[in-house]
Amino acid sequence: MTNANERQAAQSNGGHTARPHADRAGLPAWSYFSAELLEAEKDALFRRHWQVICHASDIPAPGDFITCDIVGDRALILRDGQGAIRAFHNLCRHRGSRVLGDERGNCRNSIVCPFHGWVYNLDGTLRQAAQPGSLPDLDPVEWGLKPLESEVWNGFVFVRFQPGPQPPVAALMARWEAELSQYRLDRLLPDGKGVWSDEVRVNWKCIRDVDNEGYHVPMAHPGLDDLFGRNYFDEPFREGTARSYSRFRPGDGRLWSVRNYKKILPEVDGLDADHRRAWLYLGVFPNFVFGIYPDSVIFYQEFPVEVGRTIQRGACYRRPDEDRRLRAARYLSGRIDRITSREDEMLTQWTWEAAFSSAYDGVILSDLETGVKSYHDALRGVFPVLTGPEPAPGTLLARNAALCDAATAN
Ligand code: FES
Ligand SMILES: [Fe+2]
Repeated sequence: MTNANERQAAQSNGGHTARPHADRAGLPAWSYFSAELLEAEKDALFRRHWQVICHASDIPAPGDFITCDIVGDRALILRDGQGAIRAFHNLCRHRGSRVLGDERGNCRNSIVCPFHGWVYNLDGTLRQAAQPGSLPDLDPVEWGLKPLESEVWNGFVFVRFQPGPQPPVAALMARWEAELSQYRLDRLLPDGKGVWSDEVRVNWKCIRDVDNEGYHVPMAHPGLDDLFGRNYFDEPFREGTARSYSRFRPGDGRLWSVRNYKKILPEVDGLDADHRRAWLYLGVFPNFVFGIYPDSVIFYQEFPVEVGRTIQRGACYRRPDEDRRLRAARYLSGRIDRITSREDEMLTQWTWEAAFSSAYDGVILSDLETGVKSYHDALRGVFPVLTGPEPAPGTLLARNAALCDAATAN
């Protein structure tokens, strides 16, 4: 455990610190409803931070592709003829159509736009406009698909739509590399169910608020509590990532899934004794999490659509050495996860609805919600405007920029 001291300190003083109420406050209620803030979040957070899209093993063959829409931008990830992974904006240079309309598939050795039929090579260059005599000669590179910044880290494919404050993904995740190396994430394979997505009627931050802390686990998640007991611990967000780790509690589980999961889960090759009996979560600012289990690895993420509408998306991967027993363990961990997600759905909904109540005057965060507190601190770092009342209509961006300038000057 990298932060044993932090953990000890937080556990030993739990409930007895003199931290004032004001320092325990969450984000202001207006931040969950402001359309102006949402547009600013789309730009500063979602377009300018790395987003995980898939694993390289999702697109093993030339022409295999995956597409993903995020806050109005459209990513296209594909495997080219030389085996390299490439990322483009899914935006035809002619009139902006999607060049590939499906969420995944294989486009063979070229991409043909479904609108007028412009043809692109797998390296993104324009092969030919439809009826080329109707247009002046077009430079194949200048009129090729616009490349998207991308990086493959431990097999996972990331994109970024606009330049942003984060370092390369490898640097962002460097402090977890030693721990992660034993999982050989680069060798993972898809679970065969593909990437899932769902729409939920809440503000996206409500999902993060519920997900970023384990204080609710003993009460709200009987399955996780059965699996972990009080071993669950969240470390705060630092430099854009956070870690939660929990060893299994000793003894048999009470619930069917947990009891059988603990019984069936084999000693997985390559993992140390601790990690063979533990779940590890790595949160990445602003909106996604890797769940790293002995039997499988998942990611899940959220993208806002409107103030009260959010897309959730995720996928699950299996180990390449999976046998029947490990497969059964993966089924059971997935079942525990599914039940947990359903329980969180309700809590997220209620968190969102609370802010509509005339009696709602914010929250108070315990020492066991340091994940939420540090996450809000990270948001306040990007949007210092969140430390005050809602700015007058039309002034949020300017007010925030002024506060950022003042913070830089100090
Ligand atoms: S928009 Fe793609 S060919 Fe016209
Ligand atoms: Fe939860």
